[in-house]
Amino acid sequence: MCGIVGMVSSNQFSTLDVIAALKRLEYRGYDSVGIATSDGWVSKDVGEIDKFMDILEDRSANLAISHTRWATHGRVTKENAHPHASNDGSIIVVHNGIIENFEQMRAALRSKGYSFISQTDTEIIANYLEDKLRSGMGMQKAIRSFMKDAEGTFAILIIIKGEDTLYAAKRDSPLVLGILGDGFVLASDIYAFSDKTSKSIFFDDNEYAVITPRSYTFYVDSKEIEKQITEVQWTGISEKDEKYEHYMIKEIHEQPVAARRLIESMDTTQRSKMDLLARLCRQCKRVLFVAAGTSYHASLAGVYMFNSIGIEAHTLIASEFQNFMLVNEDALVIAISQSGETMDVVKAIKYAKDKGSKIVSIVNVPYSTVQRLSEVSVEILAGQEICVASTKTYTNQVLILICLANLLGFRTDIKSIPEMIGSTIESSEEKVMELSRSMSDTRDIYVIGRGISYPLSREVALKLKEISYIHAEGMMGGELKHGTIALIEEGTIVFSFIPNTDYEMLSNTQEVAARGAHVIMISDNPEFEPTFLLPPSVPGSFSVTATIIGQLFAYYIAKEKGLPIDKPRNLAKSVTVK
Ligand code: M6R
Repeated sequence: MCGIVGMVSSNQFSTLDVIAALKRLEYRGYDSVGIATSDGWVSKDVGEIDKFMDILEDRSANLAISHTRWATHGRVTKENAHPHASNDGSIIVVHNGIIENFEQMRAALRSKGYSFISQTDTEIIANYLEDKLRSGMGMQKAIRSFMKDAEGTFAILIIIKGEDTLYAAKRDSPLVLGILGDGFVLASDIYAFSDKTSKSIFFDDNEYAVITPRSYTFYVDSKEIEKQITEVQWTGISEKDEKYEHYMIKEIHEQPVAARRLIESMDTTQRSKMDLLARLCRQCKRVLFVAAGTSYHASLAGVYMFNSIGIEAHTLIASEFQNFMLVNEDALVIAISQSGETMDVVKAIKYAKDKGSKIVSIVNVPYSTVQRLSEVSVEILAGQEICVASTKTYTNQVLILICLANLLGFRTDIKSIPEMIGSTIESSEEKVMELSRSMSDTRDIYVIGRGISYPLSREVALKLKEISYIHAEGMMGGELKHGTIALIEEGTIVFSFIPNTDYEMLSNTQEVAARGAHVIMISDNPEFEPTFLLPPSVPGSFSVTATIIGQLFAYYIAKEKGLPIDKPRNLAKSVTVK
């Protein structure tokens, strides 16, 4: 997590320009924000970037670094906000990642007389470099020494007070250089400079670079290396639309269009990638999905469909992939990720690659790490998703899996789904809004599903937790009676998802209703007299249409409660730490 932006230029720029670029990375974290210029001036504060902008001094500079934080080490305080300066103020650093052995490194520095004012792992970087420079080392050698001694992940930008050179280093955490007409910009991802340049150079692991206003040089160890310039094609940049109060509801409403665009691409521009993916699925012994959060829920829908057509498929949460999954050369690993930067996913696919598996992916953010590590990568094409909670990217992830399953023998009319999505939103939004009014004091919600509706019950529960701050459990309907049903009391809300003629799911619903639960039933079967009647499904479509009801509930309950919908507490959109 955390976003970093650095700028170095032969012309003067304003500190406001740097923070405007940083604002584009705010989805990476919004606990605190800060900036430093090469003359040693540092300004930082807790809270979001907009608030910081109100107090930020408009200063001119030729070199600056900035940071938006998602706290890992140390609470959300001004002291812990980046940038961090070394004891004598000569070295200033911003950092994304985690230095795992920072306690040992800090102890070693303390024994040499260095003191620390923050609880962060980052402050040791600044003091470590100051110490090396004091001992007579040059900055490049000091960086190499740091990269050898530090364990963990980092994208770091470093300035030496009074100099016009920016130093950058990367291991695991993302970092990219943008080439401007009069200088360079460094950032956690390309969106930070999408309005400035399309010429980008992606850092690979264990590389560092020395950047002056007129030149850049990349190194691995002390060896200078050639880097390829990528001409980025910008697609789907999202702008605020005054019609919508929040990005979340805008993105929910974008789903029919995003779905149509994706489905069309899978017949045209992405057709050959889909065919290759299908071929790889047929050739391997088993398919292993790896993902986190919402993307994991989409992968569960994939497992359901693949197994139903005789393709052995499994999925596991990325952070546990190495612990619980048998990974070898017989497996095809399909990574699913909106950001393409989730560290747990990146780590899992690097592990799988080492074990000999082929790696393919389904990713929304082009040029992201997951995409660049994959043999083939299908693009989700949902357009930029700004709200921390995933909505339209989940829908498109599931649609890719339906299309892939279709190529492997699953039979459905995928082209009819975008219209179903549109009519689901249209026919249910008012009613969701109305029901949500009485749900702002709700503490617990149980969400149950079976078969194809189990993954979506997990997804809906996640939306209720992260956006509406309601404790919600997404469960297998059949599992409820094995314990959790003890929690059902008079009035407990249960969302029940019943696709077509799933009478077993209907029985599970009746079991909770008999114990006083207030059931909100979502089904495409009018016979069941559901609270929300969805358009008649085609195989797989229920995963998408039913989820949209849950997305709308999460949004309208949160709105009723006055919560920060697009930036919920403690979260970040791109989880780039383990
Ligand atoms: O970018 P990714 O799809 O890899 O992100 C995975 C999760 O962090 C993400 O889905 C998270 O659960 C969202 N907040 C869900 O709304």
